[in-house]
Amino acid sequence: MEIREHYYHSLDSTNNEAKKQAENHCLEGTVISAGRQTAGRGRRGHDWETPQDEAIATSMVLYPRVPLERLPGLTLLAAVAVRRAVSGLYGLEGQIKWPNDIVLKNKKICGILTEMSVKDQQAAYVVVGIGVNVHNRGFSEELADKATSIDLELPDGRKADCGALRRKIWEEFVSCYETFARDQNLEFIRKEYDRWLVNRDRTVRVLDPAGPWEGIARGIGSGGELLVETEEGLRPVDSGEVSVRGLYGYV
Ligand code: BTN
Repeated sequence: MEIREHYYHSLDSTNNEAKKQAENHCLEGTVISAGRQTAGRGRRGHDWETPQDEAIATSMVLYPRVPLERLPGLTLLAAVAVRRAVSGLYGLEGQIKWPNDIVLKNKKICGILTEMSVKDQQAAYVVVGIGVNVHNRGFSEELADKATSIDLELPDGRKADCGALRRKIWEEFVSCYETFARDQNLEFIRKEYDRWLVNRDRTVRVLDPAGPWEGIARGIGSGGELLVETEEGLRPVDSGEVSVRGLYGYV
C-alpha cells in the first residue's frame, strides 16, 4: 500500500478532512496531516489540542476487509507503530496504556482516535488519527502532570523532527496493517504489545457501565481485548465499552 500524504498548514481536524476524502473515495493510504488543528478531537468527546507546529496531527484512510468486531485492533496497531517509531528514531522507549495511549515516564505523548463509517455490517472506511506531542514545552494546568512531549524527554536539548516521525509512524503502521489484513487478528504483535503494556501485572479499575470492578491486567487477547485477572479467572475487557484506570494517577 502506498502512503500519500497531503499536508495542510491548519485544519479543524485531520480526522474530519480524512473522512471527507474517504467519502469521495480517495485511495487507501491517503494521509492527511496538519501543522495545527482548530477543533481537534480526542476519545470520549474530549478536545485535543494541536498548537501550530508543536505537535503531530495526522490521519490515514483505510478500507479494511476485516470483520467489524476485529476493527478495534487497528487502534492497537497504531499504538505499536508510534511506539516503534519513537524508539527507532529517538531511542525513547515509550510504554502503551491500553488500548492506545503512548506514555513516557508515565506521561502521555500520544493519543489515537479511530473512526469509521459502517454500511451493510461492513466498514465503508476507517480513519486512524494520531496526535503526538513533539515540541510542546508546557501544557495547560489540567494536563500538566499527565502529558509530556518528545522534546521534553530528549536529553541535551535535542529536538525531534515532525516530518521524519510522521513518515516512520505510517511506514510502521502499514507494515503492521498488511499482516493484520491477512491474519485478521493481533497474534503477530501480541508479545510486543504486552512487553510495553504499562499496566501489565498491575491492578486496574475497569470503569464498566454495568458497575466498576478491579483486577490485575495480564496482557491482550488476539482481538485486542485487555485480559484482566479476577478471582473468577481472566475477564476480557473490550476497548469500545469501558475505560481502564490504574489505581495511582494517570496510568
Ligand atoms: C485521545 O487520546 O483522546 C485521542 C486523541 C487523538 C488526536 C488525533 S490528532 C489527529 C486526529 N485528528 C483529530 O481530530 N483527532 C486525532
